[in-house]
Amino acid sequence: MIKLISNILLVTILLGTYVSAVRIGSFNLHQYGSKKAANAPLTNTIAQIISDFDLAIIQEISDVSLKAPYVLHEALNQISTSNPYTMTLSGRVGRSATKEQFIFFNREATSGVEVVQAYLYDDVEDRFERPPFIGTFKVKKPVKSGVQFFTVMDVHLRPDDAYVELLNMRYVIEDFIEKNQKYFDETPTSFASALEQNVINATVNNKPSLKTNHSILIVGDFNADCSYISLRRQLSLRSIDYADFTWIINNEVKTNTRQTCTYDRVLINGDNFVDAIIPNSNTTVNYQQQMSMTLEEALRVSDHMPVKFDIEW
Ligand SMILES: *[C@@H]1O[C@H](CO)[C@@H](O)[C@H](O)[C@H]1NC(C)=O
Ligand SMILES: *[C@@H]1O[C@H](CO)[C@@H](O)[C@H](O)[C@H]1NC(C)=O
Ligand SMILES: *[C@@H]1O[C@H](CO)[C@@H](O)[C@H](O)[C@H]1NC(C)=O
Repeated sequence: MIKLISNILLVTILLGTYVSAVRIGSFNLHQYGSKKAANAPLTNTIAQIISDFDLAIIQEISDVSLKAPYVLHEALNQISTSNPYTMTLSGRVGRSATKEQFIFFNREATSGVEVVQAYLYDDVEDRFERPPFIGTFKVKKPVKSGVQFFTVMDVHLRPDDAYVELLNMRYVIEDFIEKNQKYFDETPTSFASALEQNVINATVNNKPSLKTNHSILIVGDFNADCSYISLRRQLSLRSIDYADFTWIINNEVKTNTRQTCTYDRVLINGDNFVDAIIPNSNTTVNYQQQMSMTLEEALRVSDHMPVKFDIEW
């Protein structure tokens, strides 16, 4: 009897632990446009992969007729019927006729977060091929992490300009802080400090040291590897320009479907947030393996694999 009770207790504890972990993923859908949206089995497979995440950060929706995101949203909610996802969709961005949209899919019942604002970076200086999509989330019941709000900057950096665009993300952070003073007002000096610590054009002797209680995450397809950003530049980005961020997707995980490069990244500023991540949960999702696909089949889904991590609020 005691054994039974202790087993029930154990199961309850395990379930409790399991339920409280929230999975956040990022996925570049490689030209998810009218053609992919019209292919129902393919859309269903993509929705299946996304439904593994409580909060999904999506790149490369490319439909000129603007319908594809709604098709995907519907497919997703047909899988997750009892806990639907909300969709926060950006406008179309891109300098040429080729434009893309970003999405945040939030399964509010399981993610424990709600969207409080979302906007595209106002790129008056034309620094980006695709201005990042910025979403601020509120943690509804922070238990032990102490994270109350955080902001995701969803990016799809231009391959041949990835290094410069990544450096330019410091302007996006500056703009965010300036426009959202309330998140940086905890102490009388914290707003001014945040702006000062967010060094633009960093050098070895003047590195950024942004330290606030409002975490900023830069997430998405950075094209940050192989021929686009050299290892030397990756090293200087890590040790100088983003010395104050934790890089939780390292080169040991390959994020393209061919498993050769680490293009997709998650950079996080903020100790509370990083400390709440479940160790070893930060990795790529190899759907080719999980769904027993050939490489060719997997490439029809996307040329990227998602990256993800689990966190406990
Ligand atoms: C950063 O460097 C660029 C290019 O050298 C320059 O145009 C820009 O004004 C600098 N920005 C700041 C904030 O120092
Ligand atoms: C972050 O929160 C802690 C605890 O509430 C506080 O002591 C600290 O001043 C805050 N830091 C900033 C930069 O606002
Ligand atoms: C996961 O994140 C930790 C830092 O929190 C890092 O040391 C580790 O290398 C990361 N793992 C991968 C596979 O990127």
